[in-house]
Amino acid sequence: MVKKVCVLTSGGDAPGMNACVRAVVRAGLKSGLEMFVVYEGYKGLVEGNIVQVDRNFVSDIINRGGTILHSARLPEFKDEAVRRVAVDNLNRLGIDGLVVIGGDGSYMGAKKLTEMGVRTVGLPGTIDNDIASTDETIGFDTCLNTICECVDKIRDTTTSHQRCTFIEVMGNRCGDLALYSGIAEGVEMIITNDHPIPEDEIISTLLRLRDGKKKHSLVIVSEKVFPDIHAFAKKVTQLTGIESRAEVLGHLQRGGSPSARDRILSTEYGVHAIEALLDGESGICIGIINGKFVHYDILEALDLPKNKHIELMKMIDLVNR
Ligand code: ADP
Ligand code: F6P
Repeated sequence: MVKKVCVLTSGGDAPGMNACVRAVVRAGLKSGLEMFVVYEGYKGLVEGNIVQVDRNFVSDIINRGGTILHSARLPEFKDEAVRRVAVDNLNRLGIDGLVVIGGDGSYMGAKKLTEMGVRTVGLPGTIDNDIASTDETIGFDTCLNTICECVDKIRDTTTSHQRCTFIEVMGNRCGDLALYSGIAEGVEMIITNDHPIPEDEIISTLLRLRDGKKKHSLVIVSEKVFPDIHAFAKKVTQLTGIESRAEVLGHLQRGGSPSARDRILSTEYGVHAIEALLDGESGICIGIINGKFVHYDILEALDLPKNKHIELMKMIDLVNR
């Protein structure tokens, strides 16, 4: 039975991470556990940046974006000798449970710590929604709303000038942010790594739209589809005569106060993590599938195929273009 548990945030930050840290700490304390936090993810674990906390430590953070624990990337964590230092730091403090809030890379780190005797639970914290073992990651909803806010503004000026604007959104190699924001904004085209659109089809679609009554177009594109979206927009201008621009939304997508939905989801995830540790589970990650919280072995989770949203793409073809 675990007695001392710590929590860390790792990989790219996501709105809702703070709400999740709060829930882990509060649920742990209420269950009679001693609770600790690690600053700077696995880097802090290796450097021994671990602090015991009380319930007040997590007051007034439920609404805050980013992560008060800071996040870091430590590629060296793949090295067993480096992880051994982290495990020794945990053992020295008698910490026997670890909650990792992060993406699939962070899950891999957690799995490897499990193999070295640490009881771990992974929670999906990333705006990308690229973890197959859950329908929704912490931060996805807020990010989606942020993108929509931006696209609403870009739409105003795109319409005024009768241009075409290509908007590049984050997601790593996952198209969910592009897909869902594209549906919510009713844009003319959505281009993702899973569903690329050939250049000649992009051009012919824009020309067809221009020849109809609509004189402007919005196109949402996942990052990593075009090496240089600004260069692509210039090329479209040259080939079509339609004045085109590109906007890369960038890191503003990761910021901001979490949506109510993300705060609630993060709180639920945090409580489930403590319950799982108290039930003696380890090396697992928690997800929400069809509205139900589910537990997966981390390796099994990382092997699951990601939903390519074939049905949604058909719907988009019917409605958007
Ligand atoms: P995310 O968790 O958002 O996917 P990263 O892929 O950057 O972000 O992973 C976060 C951290 O997890 C890395 O900086 C590294 O410390 C750790 N990590 C990633 N992959 C592994 C691995 N194969 N083994 C051990 N640790 C890993
Ligand atoms: O994983 C979150 C994410 O924002 C991705 O969407 C993006 O590809 C990456 O992180 C950017 O990483 P960094 O903040 O290190 O530039």
